[in-house]
Amino acid sequence: MPMILDSPPPEEQSVDPIELRRRVHHEADVVIVGAGILGCAIAVALGNQGRSVILLERSLKEPDRIVGELLQPGGVTALEKLGLRDCLEDIDAIRVLGYDVIYYGQEVRIPYPESQDGAPKKRKRGDMEKSGGGRPEGRSFHHGRFIRRLREQAMTNANVTVVETTASELVRCGHTGQVLGVECNTKGEKDYYFGHLTIAADGYASKFRKESITQAPVSKSKFWGLELIDADLPMPNHGHVVLGDGAPILLYQIGTHETRALIDIPENLPSASVKNGGVKGHLRNVVLPSLPKRVQPSFEAAIDRDRLRSMPNSWLPASTNRTPGFILLGDAMNMRHPLTGGGMTVALNDAVLLSELLSPVNVPRLDDTKVVLKQMQRFHWQRKGLTSVINILAQALYSLFAAEDPQLKALQLGCFRYFQRGGNCVDGPVGLLGGIIRKPFTLFYHFFAVALYAIWIYVASSSLLTLPVRLVGSIGVFWKACVVIFPYIFSELRS
Ligand SMILES: Cc1cc2nc3c(=O)[nH]c(=O)nc-3n(C[C@H](O)[C@H](O)[C@H](O)COP(=O)(O)OP(=O)(O)OC[C@H]3O[C@@H](n4cnc5c(N)ncnc54)[C@H](O)[C@@H]3O)c2cc1C
Ligand SMILES: *[C@@H]1O[C@H](CO)[C@@H](O)[C@H](O)[C@H]1NC(C)=O
Repeated sequence: MPMILDSPPPEEQSVDPIELRRRVHHEADVVIVGAGILGCAIAVALGNQGRSVILLERSLKEPDRIVGELLQPGGVTALEKLGLRDCLEDIDAIRVLGYDVIYYGQEVRIPYPESQDGAPKKRKRGDMEKSGGGRPEGRSFHHGRFIRRLREQAMTNANVTVVETTASELVRCGHTGQVLGVECNTKGEKDYYFGHLTIAADGYASKFRKESITQAPVSKSKFWGLELIDADLPMPNHGHVVLGDGAPILLYQIGTHETRALIDIPENLPSASVKNGGVKGHLRNVVLPSLPKRVQPSFEAAIDRDRLRSMPNSWLPASTNRTPGFILLGDAMNMRHPLTGGGMTVALNDAVLLSELLSPVNVPRLDDTKVVLKQMQRFHWQRKGLTSVINILAQALYSLFAAEDPQLKALQLGCFRYFQRGGNCVDGPVGLLGGIIRKPFTLFYHFFAVALYAIWIYVASSSLLTLPVRLVGSIGVFWKACVVIFPYIFSELRS
């Protein structure tokens, strides 16, 4: 028997026949695989609309992971829309007001912008100092605690039944190929769940991805995580991005005493080879000295103390759901480099948009396959206002921040100097990154403004002797900028 977690005590056993159908007959309007960020959010959203939902999760223990720990302001807003804002309470979450970018020891503060539309705004002097004051905020926390709160919300929703079981295979109609539900394994026993719609939200290593798309995720680096205790951060309540000779390093507080360090290590990095002491050697010999002095003691202690953990940093462009009866969502469907902390913001906004598109007003019956598929087409394009911005920015910034060759290095410097200009040069980029500005063109504009500024710096810093070479070289820098961004733009234009 599956373990039913939300069944009420016998004396007040509900007589809701729909609940009974879920619990006893394993039938619902919607079956969702994976009670992670997306699964929980969409389960509650659909449950609130009166849909009958079964949410399947392989382990209901509080997860302990190094992912999904910084939620952008655009994700906080989505949580509010879903009525799940409470999930950020009582988890020792930390307010996030923006970023601190540290480039070879130089610092620039990048606060989340006030204006919601990203339009260039005249700013009064002294505005920058007013922290909070109407500016949007993000939150950082222990991933597992946030997930625990989300799952509690799903479990207490009268229209959602949460079951601990591992989904193994889709059940399809022999004639039409329509997905009817999933086969599961509950403590060694086979088990089945059926719905008009089956949603796979089983995360980055999705078992069900191959059922509807052919493309596989591409991963060229990993994030290695450490947990620092009582780290002395240069700018509390900000995400820190440390740039230097190697790939980028992220530091952000996730609890009163804990700070997450994520260190990007590209594949086959010589300084992380076995000969050079492996990842620990790289952390100690290369990363540690590149960090701000005040962070070094807690970082060094964490290297000695922590079990090293890593996660692949993947890129997977979104694709339209075309399989009748089936929807792939979350990391299973679309991934971008976690440098900009955009994954949960995308997932939560997808839950908002999809629940609107599939609401009983738009889709009275979820077994009306034709209408559902039409709405999925709409979903694919409508989500792009936000997700294409987050996806492209994450990949483009990673290319610049992990720069190795001289042209990318020139773009990296240009990017940092651009941020130092302040005003719209930071409001735009961080507004896009934070999920506050949803205008792909604004991204395009800032990216090429950075490229031109980088070229200007590159040429202006040359001597009379090197000028001709640099003038020619500037074409290379511009070309590199195009090579960095256009493949990602094109992949976002695909259906
Ligand atoms: C290193 C790293 C750092 C990141 N940092 C951030 C960040 O700071 N901010 C941010 O917004 N995003 C971040 N992300 C991205 C973010 O973690 C994901 O985008 C987000 O968790 C996706 O949510 P999801 O619901 O699709 O998947 P998940 O949250 O991974 O949930 C999947 C769920 O499905 C369950 N499951 C899997 N298979 C089965 C099965 N067969 N049967 C039943 N259940 C199953 C799993 O147990 C899990 O609970 C990071 C990613 C990485 C790799
Ligand atoms: C559950 O669904 C019913 C309709 O079946 C609806 O009236 C009710 O509001 C829903 N409950 C919750 C908690 O959303």
